[in-house]
Amino acid sequence: MSLQQQLTALKEEAISKLSHIHTLNELNDLRVEMLGKKGTLTEVLRGMKNLTAEERPVVGSFANEIRDLLTEKIEERKTYLEQAALRSTLENETIDVTLPGKKVHLGTTHVLTQTMMEIEDVFLGMGYQVVDGREVEQDYYNFERMNLPKDHPARDMQDTFYITDELLLRTHTSPVQARTMEQHDFSQGPLRMISPGKVFRRDTDDATHSHQFHQIEGLVVDKGITMGDLKGTLEVLVKRMFGEEREIRLRPSYFPFTEPSVEVDISCFKCGGTGCNVCKKTGWIEILGAGMVHPTVLEMSGIDANVYSGFAFGLGPDRVAMLRYGVNDIRNFYQNDVRFLEQFKVKE
Ligand code: DAH
Repeated sequence: MSLQQQLTALKEEAISKLSHIHTLNELNDLRVEMLGKKGTLTEVLRGMKNLTAEERPVVGSFANEIRDLLTEKIEERKTYLEQAALRSTLENETIDVTLPGKKVHLGTTHVLTQTMMEIEDVFLGMGYQVVDGREVEQDYYNFERMNLPKDHPARDMQDTFYITDELLLRTHTSPVQARTMEQHDFSQGPLRMISPGKVFRRDTDDATHSHQFHQIEGLVVDKGITMGDLKGTLEVLVKRMFGEEREIRLRPSYFPFTEPSVEVDISCFKCGGTGCNVCKKTGWIEILGAGMVHPTVLEMSGIDANVYSGFAFGLGPDRVAMLRYGVNDIRNFYQNDVRFLEQFKVKE
């Protein structure tokens, strides 16, 4: 066979093979087989060295034509295969946009978070700022600045997780009082803040105790703040949280950071004060601790106690939620049992 005949045969073979090719991989193999460095065309062209000087350019240009032709045919087939693949993908992956969607199961805001947000709303409405504290706190702020010097016996009321001698998990939100007071610029107006957050005590967990729970600290400092302001403020809170008919009662108590100190009771929201199991037949439910900020606490924060006075309170949202929803074991709040938590689904 002459070289021309070989080249023509090669072209025909390639063209017939092409029509049987259905994948891009096969197509690439064919291209390598025919046109590659070690392919059939190269192989045939090796025979060129035996040609005469006149024949060589003729065969050469014929070979180039064939190479161009095959390259073009392969390209064509490639385009065809790619389009066929795309068409079949589109046909197989049709989406029925009219089908109803899958419902996403949304969780719910934790009942304690809900309770704290509700309480925040009450105070935001009265012009308070909401302040963040720190859960890892210095002994200095947690105790000393709250008028509980080292070895003060009242420290025993709060069993404490120490990290070092000077660093601890805060036992109450009261240290935020000191941190806020020392920052406050009274030329900008009175100090009115609440600070919600987690607190920690080395307690044995039972139905009413948890080593971790929540508090909301409240603090107001200005010229001429009295216990009347404290009582009025707490009345607003209690009526908003437990109903307009609620009354409050202040009983003398002791906290090192307030003087005088009070324990605040609300009239029982279940029996209205006649006595039941919720109020343990007393008609009253203890709800928070409060008092007038101790002059020493003001002075330690750089505030002149002869000019300014203030009230403070510490409230337990866990207890508020337990009372409102009839939850009788505080541990329910922390066990993350979805069956419990989903009962407090908020309508968004
Ligand atoms: N820090 C107190 C506690 O954890 C609660 C408390 C009582 C806070 C009276 C106050 C307050 O601000 O005035 O037991």
